[in-house]
Amino acid sequence: MLNELENLHAQCFPNKPWTAQDFSDLKKSGCDIIASRNGFIVYRAAADEAEIITIGVAPGARRTGIASAMLGIVEKELKSRGVKKIFLEVAENNTPARGLYETAGFTQCGMRPKYYDGIDAILMTKNL
Ligand SMILES: CC(C)(COP(=O)(O)OP(=O)(O)OC[C@H]1O[C@@H](n2cnc3c(N)ncnc32)[C@H](O)[C@@H]1OP(=O)(O)O)[C@@H](O)C(=O)NCCC(=O)NCCS
Repeated sequence: MLNELENLHAQCFPNKPWTAQDFSDLKKSGCDIIASRNGFIVYRAAADEAEIITIGVAPGARRTGIASAMLGIVEKELKSRGVKKIFLEVAENNTPARGLYETAGFTQCGMRPKYYDGIDAILMTKNL
């Protein structure tokens, strides 16, 4: 599974690929991962808050609702665990991801200037 995740991540983030070891380390550090053939989402909950660490869908499978479905599954699971609020960061110029999160009901709650190699990060949140 970790090798498949490595392969999928490289398709989604060709400039910053994560290795199977990176995914293993994330799991050891308390992150949860949901993955299917064409998509993955990494998130972490602590007390009543959670963070979406990353999400990706294979280029050939995009715009078919996979990311929305994965986010929905994660939100439902987190809510059942007592999580009240989710946070995430997204690059200001990442139109697809910002569209995904806005459609899912996330709203901007802050900004980190020049966070991603000179690109601003938008902080977003959603109450569950
Ligand atoms: C962002 C990403 C995960 C979206 O995955 P996806 O499965 O294509 O998204 P969905 O099909 O569930 O789309 C849900 C909504 O997001 C928005 N959206 C998705 N892609 C979009 C695009 N290219 N432009 C504008 N809005 C977009 C739309 O509102 C869409 O709803 P609609 O199709 O009914 O209009 C995918 O583009 C991806 O893997 N990108 C590269 C990795 C990445 O940047 N991850 C985010 C890191 S923060």
